Amino acid sequence: MTDRGFDLDARLRERERAGLRRRLDPAESVGARTRFSPDPRGGAPDFGDRSLVFASNNYLGLASDRRVLQAAENAARSVGTGAGASRLVTGDTGLHRAFERDLADCKGTDRALLFSSGYAANVGTIEALGPDAVFSDELNHASIVDGCRLGADETVVYDHADPDDLRAKLAQRAAGSLDSATEEDWLVVTDSVFSMDGDVAPLTEVCDAAEAFDAWVMVDEAHATGLFDDGGGVVQREGLADRVDVQLGTCSKALASQGGYVAGDEALIEYLLNAARSFVFSTGLAPPAVGAAREALRIARETDRADRLWATVATLREGLESMGYEVLGETQILPVLVGDRDDALALGDRLADRGIEAPAIRPPTVPEGTARIRVAPMATHTDEEVARCLDAFEAAGREVGLL
Ligand SMILES: Cc1ncc(COP(=O)(O)O)c(C=O)c1O
Repeated sequence: MTDRGFDLDARLRERERAGLRRRLDPAESVGARTRFSPDPRGGAPDFGDRSLVFASNNYLGLASDRRVLQAAENAARSVGTGAGASRLVTGDTGLHRAFERDLADCKGTDRALLFSSGYAANVGTIEALGPDAVFSDELNHASIVDGCRLGADETVVYDHADPDDLRAKLAQRAAGSLDSATEEDWLVVTDSVFSMDGDVAPLTEVCDAAEAFDAWVMVDEAHATGLFDDGGGVVQREGLADRVDVQLGTCSKALASQGGYVAGDEALIEYLLNAARSFVFSTGLAPPAVGAAREALRIARETDRADRLWATVATLREGLESMGYEVLGETQILPVLVGDRDDALALGDRLADRGIEAPAIRPPTVPEGTARIRVAPMATHTDEEVARCLDAFEAAGREVGLL
């Protein structure tokens, strides 16, 4: 008899063999200090000792801030725990609109639109724009890659953070189809802060290249929103709001909540709310998530919370480099380069033994030979906790033979 089912055990074994098997190790709570459990599968977690988390995207440490908690509660009480329907049916509320006005104000655009996640925002936006050609940085996030797969006629990948290669590829396509190219819609898309390398896209040069060929620019500020000027991202820091056509991001990192957004001009937002399938055919973002993200954005804009994060980043970078580690990037994401996958895993394990949660990132997430520990501090880490993290890196690095 033929078997038309799916042999998932075999697929999992194959992943195991290839070193691609993932585990879900639950945490007791989200914050700078928490307890983890080994993957309990279908059972209940068995939490161990408390660890210091240096690997979260809750960069401002606002996911447990009492003002943000209160805002989530207020939203649930006054609006509801769920939106109940797509925004286009009955799920559009005054709270969604208020947060979208705040986001547009922060981003310097006419309007903003909330999606259920950053992933949905990327996929829905690129699919709805339906570009003839997308020019995409080779290290762009998977949700951009998936949006291109779904919506772009052709995706041209340019070398990471290389505006010269971008320009060459734009020129190549323009020369290759001289007549039709003038009729085509082109989109240049890049992350602003790259999540595994902690570096920043050369946005001014990217805009220059795109403008030379009349292409649109879309920037994903997932790892930057809330951390730069006036709670904005790198686009705000560089003063590029009027040159970036689509500013996109997530509320799930520094804004300590859930949901994605697009900020742009009136026509873009009106078009997306009509045509982006991940917006149209998905329930509106849950009101508590909207309330929490809105309050987190207010705190990011009105307080010096990000300054505390940048001070911690400087201490960690300096401390790690002075021990002899190579630390990549230039942002709050501090990738400590190890190289060998097994060494990186061993370093991550030795750090965990010392109560520091900062797991190894290895191929295929990063290129072969560049396994690393991605250190990501929070604004809520104390000086003493930062010192403990550095001590752990020193002792663990010696144990693994890296220092
Ligand atoms: C650059 C980038 N874009 C988009 C996303 C997706 O955002 P979300 O987690 O809100 O789906 C992420 C992270 O997950 C990201 O790192």
